[in-house]
Amino acid sequence: MKLSPIQRVQGRLQLPGDKSISHRAALIAALASGSSTIKNFSTAEDCASTLSCLEQLGIQIKRSGSTVQVEGNAKLRKPVAPLDCGNSGSTMRILSGVLARQNFSCELTGDSSLNSRPMGRIIEPLEMMGAKIHSNSGKPPLTVYGSEEIKPISYKLPVASAQVKSAILFAALGAHGRTEVKESSLSRDHTERLFNGFGVTVATSEDLTVTMEGPAQLMGGDITIPGDVSSAAYFIAAATLLTGSDLTINNVGLNDTRAAFLSLLRSWGADISTDDIRAERNEPIGTVRVRGGMQKNANRPNERCIEKTKIPSVIDELPLLAVVGTQVSGGIEIRDAGELRHKESDRLKATAINLRSMGAEVEEYADGLAVFGPTQLRGASIDCYGDHRIAMAFTVAALVADGPTEIDGTDCVNISFPEFFDLLNSITVR
Ligand code: S3P
Repeated sequence: MKLSPIQRVQGRLQLPGDKSISHRAALIAALASGSSTIKNFSTAEDCASTLSCLEQLGIQIKRSGSTVQVEGNAKLRKPVAPLDCGNSGSTMRILSGVLARQNFSCELTGDSSLNSRPMGRIIEPLEMMGAKIHSNSGKPPLTVYGSEEIKPISYKLPVASAQVKSAILFAALGAHGRTEVKESSLSRDHTERLFNGFGVTVATSEDLTVTMEGPAQLMGGDITIPGDVSSAAYFIAAATLLTGSDLTINNVGLNDTRAAFLSLLRSWGADISTDDIRAERNEPIGTVRVRGGMQKNANRPNERCIEKTKIPSVIDELPLLAVVGTQVSGGIEIRDAGELRHKESDRLKATAINLRSMGAEVEEYADGLAVFGPTQLRGASIDCYGDHRIAMAFTVAALVADGPTEIDGTDCVNISFPEFFDLLNSITVR
């Protein structure tokens, strides 16, 4: 993909459904009693992987455009072939929690990126609950030997992870008694919100312990998935960096555990407002408006380092925040984000290499990176390492750079956001 700098972005967008919420809505609908209709379902390849795994498990699904109809069925069927989770960590990890309480064994596999990601984090708690999981030294493929006698646990997550928390909560639907999951920093809470929205009570205490009583039965129903705030982030960043931009995004998810990106950008001088906030099955949704340019005299906190407790709420936006950070006076620092090395690519390394080739000064640490700014980025040749979020973050960098940029392998945006380049073109002013 060849990209040239642009003048500004202008217009109004509505985005496909949130990827994380879509995975969970599909899994909940599959396990719920009765049928469910999911509107504005994510168009991401990752979410298609979740649907096809559920079909292999005997769930009836009809997809027409962005509407997905699911016939719930508490009894899943042993699939005849391994479940292919594609590139999707959420599919493999959360589905393992669902499979942990079935009366059959089942193999889960993925593409080469997913098959090199750590799974010990779900194996440990799910085995404590009574499942058995075989892996390739802690990596996929996994064989989950489910147990109908699954037990509740009290578990402290070694790293804040919504996928692990969710795997435990889905398994806990079949456990007799109280399951508790404690986090050190709050990760995205979509499973908790949607369980509450579909008939299963989950409570979160002030010390970030999530509690649920099992066994519990989800109830089917309808939901419209909020627009994906992580996808919106690329356009919001572009609008912020390009003076004169004016961009409105309607019906976007504004859950605090996902939208910290907006408050960070504001603290760096961005002009971002939210409006018309309401709830859809406990998920906040609203309109975001961005006016271009960053105020130099912003009320910037003394710390250039992003607060540790905020990291889980911006985990997928960190490569993009590093790009934006090169335009912020004084730059920014990201620490306590070693998890980024275990995503679809090593995102710390990919971000550092690509930013350096665009002329930025970057320090890379085991658990983060620091960028110095403001720097005029220059066009370069970018490798996105097959990682959708790196491809989109560096597209934004290319829009504000001096000279043309070429990004290799941009097809990977389909993993989370197939419409990315078309929507970007629709708001571009050259
Ligand atoms: C996700 C959780 C995060 C995030 C991923 C989606 C989810 O992963 O990076 O893109 O839907 O639960 P971790 O749970 O590994 O932090």
